[in-house]
Amino acid sequence: MATFNEKKTCSQRMENFSRFVWNPDTGELMGRTLEMWVYISLYYAAFYCVMIGLFALSIFSLMKSLDPYHPDYQDRLKSPGVTMRPNIYVDDEFQVIYNMNKNSTYNQTITSLSQFLSVYKVKTQQEMNKDCNNVTDVASLLTGQQHTKYACQFTTAMLGNCSHEFDSTFGYASGQPCVFIKINRIINFVPKNDSVPFVNCTAKKGDLGPLEYFPPGGFFGLQYFPYYGKKAQPNYTNPLVAVKFLNITKNTEHNVECIIEGKGFITDNLHDPYEGKVSFRLKVEN
Ligand SMILES: *[C@@H]1O[C@H](CO)[C@@H](O)[C@H](O)[C@H]1NC(C)=O
Ligand SMILES: *[C@@H]1O[C@H](CO)[C@@H](O)[C@H](O)[C@H]1NC(C)=O
Ligand SMILES: *[C@@H]1O[C@H](CO)[C@@H](O)[C@H](O)[C@H]1NC(C)=O
Ligand SMILES: *[C@@H]1O[C@H](CO)[C@@H](O)[C@H](O)[C@H]1NC(C)=O
Ligand SMILES: *[C@@H]1O[C@H](CO)[C@@H](O)[C@H](O)[C@H]1NC(C)=O
Ligand SMILES: *[C@@H]1O[C@H](CO)[C@@H](O)[C@H](O)[C@H]1NC(C)=O
Ligand SMILES: *[C@@H]1O[C@H](CO)[C@@H](O)[C@H](O)[C@H]1NC(C)=O
Ligand SMILES: *[C@@H]1O[C@H](CO)[C@@H](O)[C@H](O)[C@H]1NC(C)=O
Repeated sequence: MATFNEKKTCSQRMENFSRFVWNPDTGELMGRTLEMWVYISLYYAAFYCVMIGLFALSIFSLMKSLDPYHPDYQDRLKSPGVTMRPNIYVDDEFQVIYNMNKNSTYNQTITSLSQFLSVYKVKTQQEMNKDCNNVTDVASLLTGQQHTKYACQFTTAMLGNCSHEFDSTFGYASGQPCVFIKINRIINFVPKNDSVPFVNCTAKKGDLGPLEYFPPGGFFGLQYFPYYGKKAQPNYTNPLVAVKFLNITKNTEHNVECIIEGKGFITDNLHDPYEGKVSFRLKVEN
């Protein structure tokens, strides 16, 4: 047998190789007889068929067991996070700081608030969602076609003195600014024990003066819970609570914290300061 590093001429190598490709003496193609090749091909064909079949079966049974209208696993979040508008985020905190005598310091804010609230226009909501006012059986009102659900309207009319209709600057020009508190959607989350959650804003220190909440009392109505998911409830719009600062001390920075009070809301998560509450710096200059 030739040793590995024995020198061979080029033509010898070529001959060896062509012998390997087709050996007329034994009738072998690439070292195997034609019959062998047929068996091997059949074996691999069958092998891959079985593999593809198993793979398809597992994907199919997984897809079959997932219902797009009812998510199976939703254990990431148990209690909603809270956010606010205006959402100007500076130094790890939201801030509402402006000068009521210089409209250039807040006209950007007003523009973005108007945009944010445009989906809540009465007409838009009437086209998208159901009027749940004075409805006792909300659940059956919301039952839609197939697996879908309608959602309840939340309109700017519910935002009272914080609506654009009442004041096109949302109170910013008069030094009585409104902020809008929003709780994030969590599929199938319902406040416990039918307690209606509400917003409670306080100063971390000092006094904020009188506040006004819209809807009155700062409630997030139970008709907006639960949220069924994007596919099941495509037109759902988050309810809001507007907070109007009626007589905030001017030229002073206030640290405001708005907590959602309600059973089932977690507000003391050290790792997530926005779970169940939102805080922001507020300063109105004049
Ligand atoms: C902003 O204030 C200036 C003068 O104070 C006024 O001329 C202008 O119309 C105001 N702009 C808006 C959008 O209110
Ligand atoms: C905001 O006010 C500034 C100065 O008055 C002006 O230049 C700017 O166009 C205003 N922006 C909007 C969106 O009104
Ligand atoms: C969602 O809103 C659109 C109008 O924007 C409406 O045509 C559609 O019927 C609504 N769908 C559901 C499921 O409420
Ligand atoms: C709902 O009920 C209130 C009183 O509870 C009443 O003032 C209002 O007109 C009713 N709204 C509708 C649309 O029926
Ligand atoms: C809204 O503002 C008007 C005028 O400032 C005031 O009379 C009224 O009491 C306010 N509405 C509410 C619900 O506080
Ligand atoms: C909910 O109500 C039940 C009885 O009505 C009570 O045992 C339970 O402690 C309440 N849960 C909370 C979180 O208050
Ligand atoms: C709001 O929070 C403050 C401070 O925690 C508390 O004293 C007050 O009773 C709360 N208000 C309501 C309506 O729960
Ligand atoms: C607003 O608060 C100040 C004290 O910060 C007080 O002197 C003033 O009377 C209050 N104004 C109203 C209308 O309540």
